[in-house]
Amino acid sequence: MQQIDTTATWQPSTDTAKLIIGNCVDVMRRWPDNIIQLTVTSPPYDSLRDYRGYDFPFEAIATELYRVTAQGGVLVWVVGDRIKNGRSLTSFRQALYFQKIGFFAHDIMIYQKKNTPFMRSNAYTNAYEFMFIMSKGKPSTFNPLKEPTQRHGYEMLPHNKLPDGINKKTLKQLKKEKTRTNIWSYAVGLGGTTKDKIAFRHPAVFPEKLALEHILSWSNPGDLVLDPMCGSGTTGKMALLNGRRFIGIDISAEYIDIARQRLADCGLSVAIESES
Ligand SMILES: C[S@@+](CC[C@H](N)C(=O)[O-])C[C@H]1O[C@@H](n2cnc3c(N)ncnc32)[C@H](O)[C@@H]1O
Repeated sequence: MQQIDTTATWQPSTDTAKLIIGNCVDVMRRWPDNIIQLTVTSPPYDSLRDYRGYDFPFEAIATELYRVTAQGGVLVWVVGDRIKNGRSLTSFRQALYFQKIGFFAHDIMIYQKKNTPFMRSNAYTNAYEFMFIMSKGKPSTFNPLKEPTQRHGYEMLPHNKLPDGINKKTLKQLKKEKTRTNIWSYAVGLGGTTKDKIAFRHPAVFPEKLALEHILSWSNPGDLVLDPMCGSGTTGKMALLNGRRFIGIDISAEYIDIARQRLADCGLSVAIESES
């Protein structure tokens, strides 16, 4: 495994595809400004999961993410709240902090889970997480995903009344497809999140389709995509399979090894580096 030269400033190359074991703050601090077109990531949610001894300095991570994001680049931050005696609202605090340090709050999208476990007897079952779409300035790339419209073909459609007050109708063609809404629904668990059994050695995998749809929406082939807390490598798999460059960082060597194996199973080879 290659060790990182901590004295040098790293520069991305045209074929960057790597996984790095380390604290993402320390790793990103060695990078130049404005190099990442898209980050798709999900942090540890409060203390919901038992990861392998992580350190989560949110404000330092946010600051580095802002610095390394290219002008017009996008950060997709997928996050939920701890729900125990009410909601922690950590998600909102994080979103407000991103805005405070300069990110443009482009959108708040919803990741709806088609199948969710029962959660509380005195509240509705929680079936979503937030996907905060933060950007450095306005996003420079938006490739809108479309869905079929319910009605299409030709119909007699009303148009604006003229001074005669008569509501006239004319034959017009309805659009076959429309831009999707900002609520995205995914089945979760084996077969929904991913078919890769190895990914479930990690306790908190997000759906491959979620990563894919953000990658297609906010980046173009050849762009550099980052997941600074990459876990089982979901963002990396979808980025590399779709012609993007990728860097994944995780503080756990065990999770980086899961990601490496998962990518290798798809025929994707990546360089492995260690910060220490
Ligand atoms: C919610 S999981 C990400 C799961 C990932 N999206 C997937 O699909 O597998 C969060 C990850 O953040 C990692 N992590 C926590 N603190 C970190 C830090 N300071 N630097 C790098 N990784 C960190 C944890 O080890 C964990 O794997």
